[in-house]
Amino acid sequence: MHAPPSDPNKRGAFGSRLGFILAAAGSAIGLGNIWRFPYTAGENGGGAFVLLYLVFVVALGLPVLLAELSLGRASKSNPVGAFKRFFPESWWPYVGGLGVLTGFGILAFYVVIAGWSLSYLGRALSGAFDGAMTAEQSGALFNEIISSPLETVAMAAVFLVLTASVVRAGVGGGIELASKILMPVFFLLLLVLAGRSLTLPGADKGIDFLFGTDFSKLSGQGIMSALGQALFSLSLGMGAMITYGSYLPDKENLPVAGAAVAFFDTLIAMLGGLIIFPALFSQGMEPAGGPGLVFVVLPTIFHSLPMGSLFAVAFYGLLSIAALTSTISLLEVVVAYFVDEKGWDRSKAVMLIAPATLLLAVPSALSQGAVGFFSKFIGGKGFLDVQDILFGNISLSVGALLISVFVGWKWGAKKALEEMGDFSLGAIWSILIRFACPVAVGAVLVTYVVGLFGE
Ligand code: TRP
Repeated sequence: MHAPPSDPNKRGAFGSRLGFILAAAGSAIGLGNIWRFPYTAGENGGGAFVLLYLVFVVALGLPVLLAELSLGRASKSNPVGAFKRFFPESWWPYVGGLGVLTGFGILAFYVVIAGWSLSYLGRALSGAFDGAMTAEQSGALFNEIISSPLETVAMAAVFLVLTASVVRAGVGGGIELASKILMPVFFLLLLVLAGRSLTLPGADKGIDFLFGTDFSKLSGQGIMSALGQALFSLSLGMGAMITYGSYLPDKENLPVAGAAVAFFDTLIAMLGGLIIFPALFSQGMEPAGGPGLVFVVLPTIFHSLPMGSLFAVAFYGLLSIAALTSTISLLEVVVAYFVDEKGWDRSKAVMLIAPATLLLAVPSALSQGAVGFFSKFIGGKGFLDVQDILFGNISLSVGALLISVFVGWKWGAKKALEEMGDFSLGAIWSILIRFACPVAVGAVLVTYVVGLFGE
C-alpha cells in the first residue's frame, strides 16, 4: 500500500473515514487504557486524579489532537517534515525530531508490557486460569513471568517482530483491518468483564476509589502524571497523530474524527478502571501496586465467570492486538521519518529500527526483578518506570507544549482552522490551543520540575 514518499501524491492513504477513525483509535487505544491508566490512577489516589485526567483530555488533549491532525494533513509529512515544510530554516523541525526520539523511547518499554500480555496469553491457552486463582497465586504467576529474563526479552522480541512485519507492509490494509474487526470485539469483551467485576462483593469500594474526589491526595507529581496520561492515551505530543493525519484524505472532517477518537479512547480507559478497581477492592488488594497492578488483578476475575479460561484467552489475545495497533503507530513515526527525510527504503528502515528498539527494550525487560541494577535504576525506580516517566510523561508534555505554540502562533490557528474546514467550535479551539494549552502544560511542567528539586 505504501508508495515511495518522494512523490507526495502517492503516500499511503486510509481507505475510508471509518478506516481512519478506527486506525487512529487503534493507535490511541492500547495498554495506555487498560494497563497504564489503572495503575497510575491507583498510584495517585484515584478519583481526583481521574477527574483531572478527564479535564486534561477535553481541554488540552482534544485541541492538541486536532492540531496534530491538521498539521499532518496539511503537510502530508512525518513529524520532522511537517515543521520543515512550513518553516524550513527554523529550529522547529527539531520538535519533530524530539517526537521521533520519543516514539522510539516509548516503543522500547511498551513492547515489554505487550510481551507480558503475550506471556499471559500463552498461560491462558495452556489452561492456567481454569481453576480459582487467589490474589497470592496471581501475584506469584506475575513474578514468575517478569523475573524470567529469557521469557520477558523473548516476548518483547516477538512483539517487535509482529509490529515490524505490519509496518513493513505499509499503512492501509493491515492496520485498518485489525482495527475494524477486532476493536469492536474487544470493546464488547470489556463490557462483559466490567459487568462481572462490578457485581463482585465489595465492588462499591472500587467505584468510590475511582470517582470519589479527594484532592488532598493529589501531588505535583500526580498532576504531571494526569497530564502525561491524557497525552499518552491519545497518542499525542510526539507526532503520531501528525503522521496519521498525513495519510488522511482531504475531504474528511477532522473535528468529528478527532472527537470520535478521543471519546472512544476515554470510554475504554474508564472501562479499564471499572474492571480493575472493583475486582481489586473485592480481593482486598492495594491500589498502588505499580506497573504489575492490572496483570495481577485480572486473573482473579476470570475464574468467577462461566468459561473463564475462554474469557482469559479472548482478553489477552485482544489486549495484545490493541497493543499492536499502538506499537504500529509508534514504529510508523520513526520509520516515516527515515523514509521521508533520509530517503531510506521502508524495509531497510524497519529492519534497522526494530533491532535497535530491542536493544533499548532489554534493560526495561530486565528491570522487574530479573537484574538488580536495572530494577533499582534511579531513585529506587526501575529502568522501565524511568523510561515511562521520561518519555511517556515529560517528553510528551514538552512536545505537546511546543506543538500547541507552533500550531497556535507560528503556523497559525487560522491556517489550521482552514485545514479543519468550518466547524462551529473553531473559536473555542483557537483559544484553547493558543492560550490554555501552552499555559497549562507549561505550568504543570514547571510545578513538576520545582517539585523534583524540592524533594
Ligand atoms: N496511546 C497508546 C496507548 O494508550 C500508546 C501510543 C501509541 C502512544 N502511539 C503513541 C503514546 C504515541 C504516545 C505517543 O496505549
